[in-house]
Amino acid sequence: MTAQTSRIPEFYKKTYEERLQILKQQAELSDEEIHLLRLHAAASFGTVNRMIENVISVMFLPLGMATNFLINGEEYMIPMAVEESSVVAAACNAAKLARISGGFFVSSSDPIMIGQVQLLGINDFSAAQKIIFLHKARILALANAHDQVLIANGGGAVDLETKVLETSRGPMLIMHLFVNVCDAMGSNIVNTMVEGVATFLEDLTGGYARLRIVSNYAVRRMVKARAVWKKEQIGTEVVEGILDADALAHADPYRAATHNKGIMNGVDAVALATGNDLRAVEASAHSYAARSGSYQPLSHFYKNEDGDLVGELEMPLPIGIVGGITKSHPIAQLSLKILRVKTACQLTEIMGAVGLAQNFAALRVLVREGIQRGHMRLHSKNIASNVGAIGDEIDVIAERMVCERSVSDGRARELFDELKK
Ligand code: MEV
Repeated sequence: MTAQTSRIPEFYKKTYEERLQILKQQAELSDEEIHLLRLHAAASFGTVNRMIENVISVMFLPLGMATNFLINGEEYMIPMAVEESSVVAAACNAAKLARISGGFFVSSSDPIMIGQVQLLGINDFSAAQKIIFLHKARILALANAHDQVLIANGGGAVDLETKVLETSRGPMLIMHLFVNVCDAMGSNIVNTMVEGVATFLEDLTGGYARLRIVSNYAVRRMVKARAVWKKEQIGTEVVEGILDADALAHADPYRAATHNKGIMNGVDAVALATGNDLRAVEASAHSYAARSGSYQPLSHFYKNEDGDLVGELEMPLPIGIVGGITKSHPIAQLSLKILRVKTACQLTEIMGAVGLAQNFAALRVLVREGIQRGHMRLHSKNIASNVGAIGDEIDVIAERMVCERSVSDGRARELFDELKK
C-alpha cells in the first residue's frame, strides 16, 4: 500500500509539528520514528563512525517532502535530501499539474548490473572467446556460488558476453558478467562475483585478469517515465517554449548538460534521502547521456494530437533498497518506509518520475519568468540569514530584496543595518 494521499495542500505553510503529525498519520510512523526525524536525533557518533573513517562531524542536508505525486495510479509522498532552494517546491508543482492527466506512468527493466573482467596476455582472441562461451554455464555457476542469498531471492549471474578492445596498451579481452542483483544496488555482489570467476577465466584463456569490477554504465538497469501536461493547465506558450528548450538540448551539449542537471536535481535528492550511492547514479546517467558519442538529454518532450505536452525520460539507475547505507542509515530507512517501496525497481520508478517532474518544472520556469525570480525569492532568506538577520528580520529583508529585484549580500547587509538602526 502506498500513502493514503500525497495531495496535501499547502504543506509548506504548516508548522514543523504539523508536518510531522501529517507524516505520522499518512506514513503510519511510530512515535520513535517521528523522534528520529526530529532534527539531528538520528546522527549519533556511533552510527556515523561505522559508516566511514576518521569521523569528525556530520554534514547535514535538509530533508524535504515532495507532495502530489501520483505514480502508476498510486499516491507517493517522496522524501528529498537537497540543499538547493526551490527543488522540492518545483517537484510538488510539476506533480500537481501532472495529476490532472493521471500523474506519472513508469516502468523499469530487471535490475541487471554488469561486471567487467579485463583479460590481458592473450594470444588467440577468437579461441579465448570461444572457450569462454563453451564454459558459460560453469562460469555463471561459479559466480553464483558466491552469493547464495541472492540466488535464494531469485537473482544471480544470468548471462555473459565478451569483446575484444583495441587500446593504447594493445588488444584486450573484456568479459561482461550480467547479474540480476534484485533489491541491492549490487556493486558489492558483482565485484565479489567477477573476482570469483577471474582465476577460472585465466585458466581457460591462458591470459591474466587485471581489473575485475562493476560497471557504472548500467545500461541493463533502465527506467522509463512519462507524463502529460495539459495545454489548458500550462498554456500553449509554455508548451511551445518547452519544445524549443527540448530542441536546443538535443542540438547542443552545453544546454543538454544543464537540462540533465535539472533532472538530476530530483533523482539525486531521492537517491540521497534513501542512502543510495550518488556517484554511481551520476556516473551512470551521464555515461548513458553520452552513449551516441554526443552528449544528449535524458528526456524528450513533444506535443500529442490534443496539443498537450508529453514528457518522457529514459535513464539507467543503479540504486538499491537493501545493503550498504540504505540499511544502516536511520533516515534512509525512514525514507524507504515513507515511500513504502518493496523493491528496488519500485524506487527506480519513483526516481524516474521525480527526475521528469523536476525537468518539466525547471523548463516551465525557464520559458516563463526565468529562473532567478523564484530561485531568488527562496535564496533571499539564506542571504538575509547569512548577514546576521534572525527570526522575522529574515522575512522582512528577504521580502524587500525580492520587491526591489536586488538579491545580494551587499543589499542584505544594507537592509540589516537599516533595520538595526
Ligand atoms: C538548476 O539547479 C537547474 C536548472 O538549471 C535546470 C535547467 O536549466 O533545465 C534550472
